[in-house]
Amino acid sequence: MSAETAARGLETPGGLARPAPRISLFRTLRFRLILSVALVHVCLMGAFTWESVQEQSQSVREQLYNRGVSLSNLMVVASTNAVLAEDLAALAEVTERVHRQPDVRYGEIVDARGQVLASTEPRSIGRPVGAMVAASERFPLPGDDQLLDLREEVTVAGRRVGTVLLGLSTESLDAALRSTRNEGLLFILLALFIGSVAAWGLSLALTRHLHELTRAAGQISAGDFSVRVAPGARDESGVLARAFNAMAVSLERTARRARQEHEKRTEAERLACVGELSASIAHEIRNPLAAIINSVSLLDREDLEREDRGEVVDIINSETRRLQRTLNDFLDFARIREPQLAVVDLCPLVEEVARLVERDPQSQGRVRFRLRFLDGSCRAHIDADQMRQVLWNLMLNAVQAMSGGGEVTVRVECGDGRVQVSVVDAGCGMEEAFVGKVTKPFVTGRRSGTGLGLAIAQRVLMQHGSGLSIVSQPGVGTEVGFELGAVGAE
Ligand SMILES: Nc1ncnc2c1ncn2[C@@H]1O[C@H](COP(=O)(O)OP(=O)(O)OP(=O)(O)O)[C@@H](O)[C@H]1O
Ligand SMILES: [Mg+2]
Repeated sequence: MSAETAARGLETPGGLARPAPRISLFRTLRFRLILSVALVHVCLMGAFTWESVQEQSQSVREQLYNRGVSLSNLMVVASTNAVLAEDLAALAEVTERVHRQPDVRYGEIVDARGQVLASTEPRSIGRPVGAMVAASERFPLPGDDQLLDLREEVTVAGRRVGTVLLGLSTESLDAALRSTRNEGLLFILLALFIGSVAAWGLSLALTRHLHELTRAAGQISAGDFSVRVAPGARDESGVLARAFNAMAVSLERTARRARQEHEKRTEAERLACVGELSASIAHEIRNPLAAIINSVSLLDREDLEREDRGEVVDIINSETRRLQRTLNDFLDFARIREPQLAVVDLCPLVEEVARLVERDPQSQGRVRFRLRFLDGSCRAHIDADQMRQVLWNLMLNAVQAMSGGGEVTVRVECGDGRVQVSVVDAGCGMEEAFVGKVTKPFVTGRRSGTGLGLAIAQRVLMQHGSGLSIVSQPGVGTEVGFELGAVGAE
C-alpha cells in the first residue's frame, strides 16, 4: 500500500465516493413542502371561501325576501281602496305592475271570501283561491322549492278585507349562488396553483443547497478535502454551508497532518526494516565468512599436516555452501513475485510435496506422512509453484522438528467457502515467545537453518490474502496451518 493510499485509507473510512442514494419522490423535501403548502391552502382558502359564499348567499336571500315583502306591502297599499270598491280594473293594474318586476312569478289579490279579484294569471280571476299559504315563507326553502310565497293581509280598521299573495322565483338567486360557489372554487384552485408554484420555487432554492452539500460530502468521503460549497444566502442554508466549509478545512488540515505522519512513520519503519535486515544478513554471513578467512590463512601455513589440510578444505567447502544457500534463500525471499493465480486442487499438490519430502535425505525414511483429505476436492485460486514452496517449507520444518522420527499429519479440509491446510507434527515444539517471531526473516532455532523458510511462506500467503497460524507446545508438537478461499465445485 503506498503512503498516499494508506493516508487516504486513514482519512476516508468509506473509501470511494458513493453516489447519493435515490430518494423516492414521496419522501423528497420538495414533495413534502408542496404537499403541506397545498394542504394549508386548501384548508384555509376552503374555509374562507365557504364562509364568504355562505355570507353572500345569506345576503342575496335577504335582499330577495326584503324585496318580496316591500312589493307585497306596496300591493296592499295600492289595492286597499280598490278591494273595498271592488274596482277590478284598478286591482288588475296593480297585479300587472307587480308582474313586470323581476323574479315575480305570480301576484294575486284575494277578497275576504277567498275569491281571486286580480291575478297575474288571468284564468284564476273570479275563482276561489287554491291552497293559500298560511304565512310568508322564509329562507331556506324546503327541498327543491324554487318559489318564495309571501302573504300579506289587506286590513281596514282592523278588519281583514282581502289578502295579497306574491310568489317570487328563486331561480336567478340560485344561479347567482351557483356562480358565487364556482368562483369560490376557482379561487381555491388558483390559490392552490399559485401556492404550489411558490412552494416549488422555495423548495428548489432550499434543496439546491442540500444537493450541493450532498455532492460535496460525497467528494469528501472519496478523499477530496479541497471541495468547498458556495455560502449562498445569509439564511440558515448559508450558515450550514459555512459550517460545512469550516469542517472541510479542518478535515483537510487533519488529513494533511495524518499523511505527513504516515509518511514519516513509513520512512522510519522502512529504514528500521532495512537496518534489521542488513544486520541479519551481516550476522548470517559473518560466521561462515570468518570460518573461511581463518581456514584460508591456515592453508597458507607450511607446517599444516596433509590430513588437517583436507579437513580445512572441507570446512571451506561447507561454509561456502552455507553462504551460498543463505544468499539464495535471501534472494528467494527478496524476490517473491506476484502470484500467477489459477484454480488448483490442493489435495494432489499436498500429496506431491509430501512424497518429495518423504524422499528427502533429511527425512531418511524415519518420518512418514499421513494425509487426511476430509473432502475429495479442495480447489482454490493459488499460484501452484509458490504454494508448493510453502508446503515444502512447512513439511520440512516438521521433519526437522522430529529428530526421533514418527508421523506427520497433513490435513486438507473444505467447508464454508474456505480451504484449511494444516501440518501437524509431534516434534520438539517451540516456546511461546519464539512462536511470535519465527515468521520474521533470519530467525532460526537450528544451527544449519537460515531462518527464511517461514518468512518466505508468510510472504507468499500474504500475497494470497492469507497468513500462517502456528500453535506449538515444547516437547509436544506443532501445528502450522493456513486458510484460503475455496472455489465452488462446477
Ligand atoms: N514444526 C516445527 N516444530 C518446531 N520448531 C519449528 C517448526 N517449524 C519451525 N520451527 C522453528 O522455527 C525456526 C524458523 O523456521 P524457518 O523455516 O523459518 O527457518 P529454518 O527452518 O531455521 O531455516 P530454513 O530457512 O532452512 O527453513 C526453525 O529454525 C525452528 O526452530
Ligand atoms: Mg525451515
